[in-house]
Amino acid sequence: MIKIAPSILSADFAHLGDEVAEIKKAGADYVHFDVMDGQFVPNISIGIPVLKSLRKATDMFIDVHLMIDRPLRYVEQFCSAGADLLNVHVEADCEENIRSAIEKVRSLGKKTGVTLKPKTPADALIPYLGMVDLVLIMTVEPGFGGQRFMHDQLPKIAEVRRMLDLSCPGCELEVDGGVDAVTAKLVKEAGANVLVAGSAVFGKADRQAAVSAIRNA
Ligand code: DX5
Ligand code: ZN
Repeated sequence: MIKIAPSILSADFAHLGDEVAEIKKAGADYVHFDVMDGQFVPNISIGIPVLKSLRKATDMFIDVHLMIDRPLRYVEQFCSAGADLLNVHVEADCEENIRSAIEKVRSLGKKTGVTLKPKTPADALIPYLGMVDLVLIMTVEPGFGGQRFMHDQLPKIAEVRRMLDLSCPGCELEVDGGVDAVTAKLVKEAGANVLVAGSAVFGKADRQAAVSAIRNA
C-alpha cells in the first residue's frame, strides 16, 4: 500500500495545527517532521517543543526525520514528545551508537527507521536490517525543501527494495526529496511505498488534489 507523508517543512508554522488538519482531511497517511541541527545539515528547523505541541493537535502518525549529529543523545526526548517513528541517519554517528539509538527507540515502544544520504551506498544498511521498521532513502541532499529530485537514486531504491524483500519483507521503504506527481511514479516503480512530499503538497492551494495526484501517479 502506498502511503503519503507530507513534510511540514514547507507548511506555514504559524498555523501548523490547521495545516496538519488539512492534510489529514486530504487523506495523507503520515506527517513527516524534519529536525535539523545546523551541524549534520546546513540548516536549522524545528525540534522537541514543536513536536510536543503537534502531538496534542493531531492523532496522525508522526514520522520524525532526525537530521542531527549523534542522535542517541536525543531519541528518548523525541519519543516522549510524541514521535510514532524515529528515523536516524547512518552517517550521523558510529555503527555502535546508531544501533544503540535504534534499540533505545524500540525499547520505548516506537517504530524505528534508518536513513541514507544520496552518496551513501545501499549496503550501509546491512548492520541495521532486522532492527528497523522502515528504511528512508534521501533523493536530495538533506537540509532544504524544494530541491530537484535526484534521478540517480532510482537504482539504489530498487536495490534496497530487493534487499528488503529478501531479508525483511515487512519493512517499509520511504523516499524523501523532490517527490511530486511526476517523480512519484518513478519511485513507486522502483519499489518505494512511503512517499514524503513537502513543496508538492504544502506549496499547493488544494492539498486534497496534491495528495491524490501523488498517490495516483
Ligand atoms: C529535506 C527534508 C525533506 C523536505 C522535502 O532535507 O528531509 O523532508 O522537506 O521537501 P520537498 O518535498 O519539497 O523536496
Ligand atoms: Zn525529511
